[in-house]
Amino acid sequence: MNEQVKTYHIVTFGCQMNERDSETLAGMLEDAGYIGAADKTSADVVVFNTCSIRDNADKRFFGVLGQWKKRKLSRPDMTVVVCGCMMQQAHIVDAIHRKYSWVDLILGTHNIHRFPQLLDDVQSRSEHLSEIWDDAGAVVEELPACRKYPFKAYVNIMYGCNNFCTYCIVPYTRGRERSRRPGDILLEIREAAAQGTKEVTLLGQNVNSYGKSPAGSEGYRTDDVPGGPDFAGLIRMIDEIPGIERIRFMTSHPKDISDDLIRAYAECRHLCPHIHLPVQSGSDAVLAKMNRKYDRNRYLGIIASLRESCPDIAVTTDLIVGFPGESEEDFQETLDLVETVRFDSAFTFLYSPRKGTPAYSSAEQVPNDVKHDRFDRLIEAIHRIQGEKSRLYQGTTVQVLAEGPSRTDAGRFTGRAESSKVVDFSGTPDVVGRIVPVRITDAGTFSLTGELVR
Ligand code: SAH
Ligand code: SF4
Ligand code: F3S
Repeated sequence: MNEQVKTYHIVTFGCQMNERDSETLAGMLEDAGYIGAADKTSADVVVFNTCSIRDNADKRFFGVLGQWKKRKLSRPDMTVVVCGCMMQQAHIVDAIHRKYSWVDLILGTHNIHRFPQLLDDVQSRSEHLSEIWDDAGAVVEELPACRKYPFKAYVNIMYGCNNFCTYCIVPYTRGRERSRRPGDILLEIREAAAQGTKEVTLLGQNVNSYGKSPAGSEGYRTDDVPGGPDFAGLIRMIDEIPGIERIRFMTSHPKDISDDLIRAYAECRHLCPHIHLPVQSGSDAVLAKMNRKYDRNRYLGIIASLRESCPDIAVTTDLIVGFPGESEEDFQETLDLVETVRFDSAFTFLYSPRKGTPAYSSAEQVPNDVKHDRFDRLIEAIHRIQGEKSRLYQGTTVQVLAEGPSRTDAGRFTGRAESSKVVDFSGTPDVVGRIVPVRITDAGTFSLTGELVR
């Protein structure tokens, strides 16, 4: 290999927003002549794209960063960059200045388009820099991207969040809601489709409010553009793009779900029969304290309508246990909701107090042992139901987008069914990147096993 070629390595924590931002960071580095490092320890530029959603995310990052100290000190020419949601909090940036002063560049979530310039400044002046913007400003278009998979694309449709759920740090780290213009989104998807993308996942903290930000907000608003599409309208437009065979989205908030979106499940050929609809709690009292703006009945009503529109729809969710003030009765309501809805799977989280959010300073914090006990009971119900629903796939044939070889077994491949279930199956390397029929021979709680149907 050419000795002159500079290399990079990106470590990504957190959600799909960060995954997508890392694709942009990689695209900018490649435009500047860097290539991905074969050996991460020898990379010339190392980027840590951080997440702050729960305390363990913060801790994991500091743990990993600490491991790089020795490498950096032995190779001062290596540039260490930290960015992402943690950096939007002053107490974190202070901690990095104090304890990790060997970090070369700190940037936030609102100025990643400034990365090439800042990197250049750091390298040419050999000084440390930190640039964090408090506000997002206008949406920046036409940033490069180096996508992780050629056949599936994450596409941001909106940034930020206006919901201020009382436990959540995201509105503080990602700023106010702003939507991208439909034309820019459709162009990005058409270009991806022309390059072989079959599956697109539309990203936003609350995709149902696409184009619905209040007057005066930055970005696209349906009220300002007569006839401009809302979220369901956007899906209908993407459904017509040649080459796009699957449409997914993350995440949708129950309070803003529209009847038209529910109808789209029946009418759009490429919209996958899956919805991730975080409920957080089954107790009205807790939902109110969380500022979620829906109650248990409204949530159950949405699920019923979705199942009417799309009988096979897979429903997954997020649940928090031990939110401040959650009583045993409140928790029982969550368990009861889980038994009623029968989620195909769920992410369950122990409530983690985040500095700067309203719930952080609540006097009603739930003791750790109580939280853990509820967590264990919840997981038992979730996994039991997940296993039961999974077994319904046994003997059926599902369409799988094959993502690559299985990590554990040569000659086997892994991918996702339309429902988003992970499927591990026997096949040949030519399946990768294609949607292929797989007959399910065994159904475990977390994944399905099968064989390619020739
Ligand atoms: N915007 C998405 C969620 C993004 S965060 C939505 O509203 O649906 C992903 C999940 O992390 C949330 O759904 C919630 O379940 C969890 N979460 C967020 N903040 C948390 C906290 N402080 N403690 C525990 N879980 C939290
Ligand atoms: Fe956080 Fe609530 Fe916004 Fe989701 S909707 S990102 S949970 S504040
Ligand atoms: Fe984490 Fe930021 Fe996503 S806090 S979950 S990376 S929006």
